[in-house]
Amino acid sequence: MSATERPSGQQQTGRSATRATDGSAFVRACRREPVSHTPVWFMRQAGRSLPEYRKVREGTAMLESCMRPDLVTEITLQPVRRHQVDAAIYFSDIVVPLKAIGLDLDIKPGVGPVVEQPIRTRADLERLRPLEPDDVKYVTEAVGMLVGELGATPLIGFAGAPFTLASYLVEGGPSRNHEHTKALMYGDPELWAELLDRLADITAAFLKVQIEAGASAVQLFDSWVGALAPADYRRSVMPASTKVFDAVAGYGVPRIHFGVGTGELLGLLGEAGADVVGVDWRVPLDEAARRVGPGRALQGNLDPAVLFAPRAAVETKAAEVLDAARGLEGHIFNLGHGVLPTTDPDALTRLVEYVHTHTERSV
Ligand code: CP3
Repeated sequence: MSATERPSGQQQTGRSATRATDGSAFVRACRREPVSHTPVWFMRQAGRSLPEYRKVREGTAMLESCMRPDLVTEITLQPVRRHQVDAAIYFSDIVVPLKAIGLDLDIKPGVGPVVEQPIRTRADLERLRPLEPDDVKYVTEAVGMLVGELGATPLIGFAGAPFTLASYLVEGGPSRNHEHTKALMYGDPELWAELLDRLADITAAFLKVQIEAGASAVQLFDSWVGALAPADYRRSVMPASTKVFDAVAGYGVPRIHFGVGTGELLGLLGEAGADVVGVDWRVPLDEAARRVGPGRALQGNLDPAVLFAPRAAVETKAAEVLDAARGLEGHIFNLGHGVLPTTDPDALTRLVEYVHTHTERSV
């Protein structure tokens, strides 16, 4: 059956259903199936690097824009139109489900998420109630609109992983050393485990909403987990992330697991339950494949700062990524972390074209 014969993604949601995006290079690469070209998308592709994003966001606060389906749809589609990327990522933020259950938090421009009253005691845990689909009706609505607009282009849903969410909640904001977070993790392992378990349930519920509404894949962002040693990750964090992956396994949509500075954790990130492991630029993809082991695709891993170099240098570095990925069972080209806000959008468009033309093959 060709992609055009498949019914639309919206009618085909639910457990193990086929979707209009099943034949896309992105979904096929996640599943380690042969592809006509290496698929490309960029973390933070929707955002401040695009003038059209800055224009539609004018006068609307970040969290408020995440709750407006019309804005979410427009912003999510902008990089797909401009760069011809192989997947869209749902425009939102990792703290949206926490705001939706009533936590007093905000996203401060140039700073990031800030939590009015940090969560550090057993009594504080009570503020973390379960997430119900009705708490995020705007997400269901926006994903539905997007799936209709995107057709055969996959939409990636996402959520923050329990550790990275816990870091913001316990610290009260962004943190370099995660000292309060680690103090809780080492000092009160029982309370820590309960905190991560509650966050796992909220995260799983949030991902389910996106998948049920038609998302073709999900990515769990554990951006700050590279701060941990492998033994601590395995003992204190992995059970919660595994709970999230297990909760959405039955849908059959690819599950991507991403973190930064995770060279020593790559094997465990796969073991936690992912189909695809995201890799930053510090470990070449062939070495990452050895660390992750067989049975999982890889996503990455150009240094986002490379895009500030002249075009020839960008292409040399992109070719290095593609060379290291040669022979991998599944490779999705991405940056090793998000697009930096002052990146020239034309450099991103050229990079997509470069990857497409240099990986074209017959399947
Ligand atoms: O295009 C996409 O990737 C989708 C949008 C997206 C945003 N945040 C939009 C956003 C995604 C996937 C995220 C996830 C996110 N948010 C993560 C994990 C990914 C990563 O980068 O590691 C983290 C750690 C956050 C927390 C957060 N939210 C930070 C650190 C910031 C930046 C603060 C700043 O102003 O520099 C935000 C705000 C945010 N989230 C912006 C965007 C586009 C910038 C706000 C704005 O444009 O006004």
